[in-house]
Parts: sequence; C-alpha cells; structure tokens
Amino acid sequence: MIQIGQAIPRTDGRLKVTGAATFSAEHPLPRMAHAVLLQSTIARGHIASIDTARAAAMPGVLAVMSHRNAPRLPREKPGGEEQKPPPPRLNLLQDDEVKYNGQPIAVVIADTLEQAQDAARAIKVRYAAQPARLDFKAAKLRKPKEQPDRPMQTSRGDVQAGLAQASQRIDALYTTPVENHNPMEPHATIASWEGDRLTLYDATQNISGVKKNSARALGIAPEKVRVVSPYVGGGFGCKGNMWSHVVLAAMAARMAGRPVKLVLERTQMFAPVGARPMTEQRFRVGANAQGRLLAVVHDTISHTATQDDFTEPCSSPTRILYASDSLQTTQQLATLDVGVPTYMRAPGEASGSFALECAIDEMAYALKMDPVALRLQNYAEQDPEKNIPFSAKQLRECYKVAAERFGWSRRTSAPRSMRAGRTLVGWGMATATYPANRMPAKAWASIAPDGTAQVRSGSHDIGTGTYTIMTQVAADALGLPLEKVRFELGDTAMPEAPVSGGSMTAASVGPAVHRACTAARDKLVALAVADQSSPLHGFNASEVEAAGGWLRLRANPERGEPMAAVIARNGGQAVSADGDAKPGEEKKQYSMHSFGAVFVEVHVDPDLGTVRVPRIAACYDVGTVLNAKTARSQFMGGIVWGLGMALMEKTEMDWRYGRAANANLADYHVPVNADVGEIDIVALPGNDTHFNELGARGIGEIGIVGVAAAVANAVYHATGKRVRDLPITLDKLV
Ligand code: MOS
Repeated sequence: MIQIGQAIPRTDGRLKVTGAATFSAEHPLPRMAHAVLLQSTIARGHIASIDTARAAAMPGVLAVMSHRNAPRLPREKPGGEEQKPPPPRLNLLQDDEVKYNGQPIAVVIADTLEQAQDAARAIKVRYAAQPARLDFKAAKLRKPKEQPDRPMQTSRGDVQAGLAQASQRIDALYTTPVENHNPMEPHATIASWEGDRLTLYDATQNISGVKKNSARALGIAPEKVRVVSPYVGGGFGCKGNMWSHVVLAAMAARMAGRPVKLVLERTQMFAPVGARPMTEQRFRVGANAQGRLLAVVHDTISHTATQDDFTEPCSSPTRILYASDSLQTTQQLATLDVGVPTYMRAPGEASGSFALECAIDEMAYALKMDPVALRLQNYAEQDPEKNIPFSAKQLRECYKVAAERFGWSRRTSAPRSMRAGRTLVGWGMATATYPANRMPAKAWASIAPDGTAQVRSGSHDIGTGTYTIMTQVAADALGLPLEKVRFELGDTAMPEAPVSGGSMTAASVGPAVHRACTAARDKLVALAVADQSSPLHGFNASEVEAAGGWLRLRANPERGEPMAAVIARNGGQAVSADGDAKPGEEKKQYSMHSFGAVFVEVHVDPDLGTVRVPRIAACYDVGTVLNAKTARSQFMGGIVWGLGMALMEKTEMDWRYGRAANANLADYHVPVNADVGEIDIVALPGNDTHFNELGARGIGEIGIVGVAAAVANAVYHATGKRVRDLPITLDKLV
C-alpha cells in the first residue's frame, strides 16, 4: 500500500501520551544540578551592584554566576575572523549593561531546583537606570537591512497615478500587538561537559544551528558540540533561534563541574526568547468601478530591539496575492529597549494578511462587491512581482470549495443584515498564502538483515508530525510496511537537516529521506539481480520492484523473494545509503507558494460585544499532502491560533517599564476548546513537482494566515464596526 497521503496516526503518539517520549528537560543525567535564571527589572542602564554573597552561602548552592565571575567568552577582534563573537541577540553575562527588562543577569546553580529558586530570590541588585526608549510612536524609524528573497521596499507601476485614477479609495491603518510564543514545553536545556566536549539536550527547532551558534559563543569548535532534541513540545518560531539560556546552561555546567538543567519558567517566556513584534500597517488602495485594483500601497512599521534587529516582513503576501496595476511596499523599524523579537508562526504573513485582507474587504464594501468576487477580479494568474508562473496555484478552487462548504451564497451583503434571534451574525472571509520554502538536507537509510529499516535525519518533530510523515516517505521508497521502518531525528550526530522553520521540514527532509531510501533499496535490488541464488538473478534492476518487504518482478509478481533473504545470502550485513537533496534552479523559473481561503461565521452579542466563532470552513492548496491526519492537525492548529490572534492574544506591555504585565497563561489569553467551534478543512489534491520530487509544500504556517482578517471581516459584517486593531476585544465593539 502507498503510505504517503494516508491518515496514519502519529508513530510517536503512544510515546507522547504515555510519557515515554523524552523531552529536553527529561533526560536523566547523573549528578545533575539545577540552574535558575535571574532577570533584570529595568529596561536600560547598568548593574551598579549585585550582591550574591547571601545566595552563594545558601544550602545546596553550587555557584552564582553573574557578569562579575562568568567565564569570559570570545569577543569580536578587530580584523580577526577566527574568534567569532556570540550572535548579537545573546546576553551572556559579559558586562554590566542592561538592554531590556527581563534580560538574564545572573544564574544560580544548586543541587535542587528549589534551592536554586530560593537562592535567586536572595540576590540583591542595584541598577543605574537610564531613560529607556519604549515609545513606539516616538521611536526614530529606520529601514531594515534588505534580505535576499525578502525585499522589503518594493515598487512596480505608478501608485500615485493609480490612486489618482481610482473611483474608490481606501486609506486605513491597522495595528497588531506584541505576542509571545507559549508552546506547552517552555525553553529547556541540559548542558553536560565531558572534558572539552559538550552535549546539549535542548528544546529547539534547529539542532545544527544550536551546535554552530553555541560553539561560536563559547569559542570552541562545532565538532565538540552535540545537540540532542528527539521531542519538542511546540516551537512556533521561538525555538528557531538559539537564545541566551542555552549558552548560559553550558557556562553554568562548566562552572559547577556537573551537568546542569535550565528550564525557563512560563513568565520567562515573555522577554528573553523573542516575541512577535507589534506592527502598524497603513494600506492605501485604489480601484476602478469594476473592482480592478489600480494601486496598492502597504507601509509597515514593526518594532525591533536595541540589541539586535528583527523585521516582521508584513508585505510578503501583499507582493504576490493580487494583480494590482501598481504596488508599493515599504518597511521601517522602530527600535525599542526590549527583548529581541523573532519569528512567530507565519512571521509577516500572519500580521500582514490581517491588514491586507481587511483592506480588500473594506474595498469590497466601498465598491458594493462581493469580497470573493473582488478577489477573483484581481486574481494573479502569475507572480505579479517577478512575472514568472506559479509552480502550481489552485487558489480559485480554494475559494470555490470553501465558499460552497460554508454556504457563502446565502450571505446577505449588508452589515447587520444577518441575525440569529438577538445575536448579530457575520460572515467574513480572507485569502491565505505562504511561501514554499526549502533548504538542503541529508538523510541516511539502512535495511537490516531482519528486513527492518532504520532511517535518520538530524531534523525535528516540533509536534508537526515529522516522525510520522518521514516514516511514510521511507516506507514507500524502501518497499517496506510502516511497522518495519524506524525513523529517527533530533541529534546532530545524524545527517544534517535545516531549521524546522519556514514550514520547510517536509519539503526539505522528505526528498532527502526519499533519496536515501531509494538508494538503499537500489543497492539491495542490485545484490539480488547479481546473485545466482536469487529468483531475480539476471533480470534488469529496473524490472524489479520493492513492496511489502519483498523484491518482485514487476511483470510477474509471483517471482521474487523477501529482502531479508537477499541480505542473508550476501554477507548478512545491513545495506545502507545516504541521501542528499537540495533546491535547484526552480526558484528562478517558478514562483512557489501555498494558497488557501478561509470563511468564518461570528456571533456577536449586541449588548456585550462578545464574539463567538461557531464555525469556520477553509480550503488549502499545499501540493501533496503527506499525511491527511497530521496535515489536518497543522491546519487546525494554525486556524485556532488565528482565532486567538483575532480575538484574544496580546502581550500587555507596561510601557513605563518595558515589561509584560500578563506574562502567564492565566492572563495571556489563547483559545481553549470552549472557544473553538466547528472547523471544516479541505486540502485540495495537488502535486507540486516543480518544487520537489514529493510535490509537497510545507503546511506548518499557512493555517494561521488570513484567519484574523476573516474574523475581523465577519465582525464588520455582523456589527458594521470596522476594528483595525487586534485583538478584537469586546471593549472595541460596544
Ligand atoms: Mo516558523 S515562525 O518559521 O518556526
């Protein structure tokens, strides 16, 4: 049976629900000590004094590490490249400077977690504070550095002329707040030295990145570092970069002479490990009476940090989604004294699509056009920026399928025109899109004498289903039943794979696994046809197929033998092969993106302004779906997060101090089961072979894209109130 596409339950599901899966903080090491991070309580200034004497004398305390006694790390040497400094976003206790509230300023290491926590409270810090730059509106703006593949300042056609000619114009400002990642598993690192070799058990989306960057920060050779991360309890982008605590754990372990475990508390997830930056996006859109877009101008300001830059590239969807006659996008950064922001699920697309897809909706009302019809009127048949074809695009079909399943044709267009009893009912929709990303990846496959196979790639399963889909890809390529294939990941001792970010794991690692397995199978076939004792002897390798653990003649499946038999007669050694896959020149020929359409029904209480979302229908075009079940979970997780983004999620910064006031899961609101209604998800059949040999684009991020706009558009339809500031809380509706 072909396994790719099947709704196989997670191969690691039982391990996870029985607690047998070992997450980063759960690796039992002998003599493990526990570390606790102490954070700054001012946003900018210097540590005038830090008194650690009392803490150091407390029971069980092994060491207190601050800028006064922390191991000295490599610093940038003028002109010298060989001693590379740590990545600029890290705070590694090398000086007394405070650059944001919540910055790591000390680490306490003790026999037990409680002793370390207790001692951390006994540390006395005095600051010499300086005025912090914490006013987004007043911040001096500057342009971010251009990134290859992600132009920020773009222009085509004459937007001024387009706006002047337009019969309808929209000019609106949309804002999105700071948001913080809250995976179930917080960041966690166990660091263990054996001589000059370091092992890190780390909750990360990028084991090879942690290996390279921790080595760079510590000034040791990358070969001396091994990073292990077999299970990750959610990443969402915050585990894509390596943050300070990883290196601090290694420094602490060296200081204590013991393995050290450092787990961030929930509250510590709200400053030193990234956030989605807040954005302010202005849209100016002009259209003619028929609804053709003549001009689109998208100006974005996102916040960044003093310490290091991060840009939320909100114009990514704007640049490719509609065939507007002219378009201009700009991006600026407002620098604040806060922790460095970072990638959060669909960085740029999630926040950018909120503004774009609301602006298009506003234009639809201005034109008295159906929002779907307006989008179809401006459907981009090819990439409107690069003027090259899409590798595959079925967005028209997405609109059609989702609209039909939702019942969109029964919508009455006027705001406040639909009700269920007293409740205001609103129907809104939006487009989703996310780029098809891919990076080089390697894998290894080995068929054992007992007819089972081991397949490895140094990738990650951040809850996405990598174990499962790679087992399926491997089983098909090897011709083995699923249960005979064991796929392993999460160790830098394995062949290198890229960061599990940008929705690229399936698309990058899948082809490498496919190639390794195909190569191992081909080796086995070559052994069989060359073996006089094999029933396949003398046949051409191309006449032989592998399926169900057997090699058989294609033309005559009766003729064949078990794979194990071939190995047994040929030295009894496992047959292994490497696989290596990387993107080629296809990006120059094709514009590669996934697409989708999401339709939302909201119920708004006319007196209280509370918004409920009883149902959502969405349809996606993501190329080949490797596993119908894990794919659905990815889409659904993204959609649910989109609901949170629309209605609840916001880091309430206290801008006097640059500190999150709701840094816990009681006050930082995300949707729970009771907030989520029916979600109908369809993934169209597809096979984007221009992109890779599996035809599969990533699906980790597209689910969140467009959802906030669809909700906002539905809220407008229900209430006649256009809320352009997320989240849409009840105070904005009454
Ligand atoms: Mo994703 S935000 O690129 O982990």
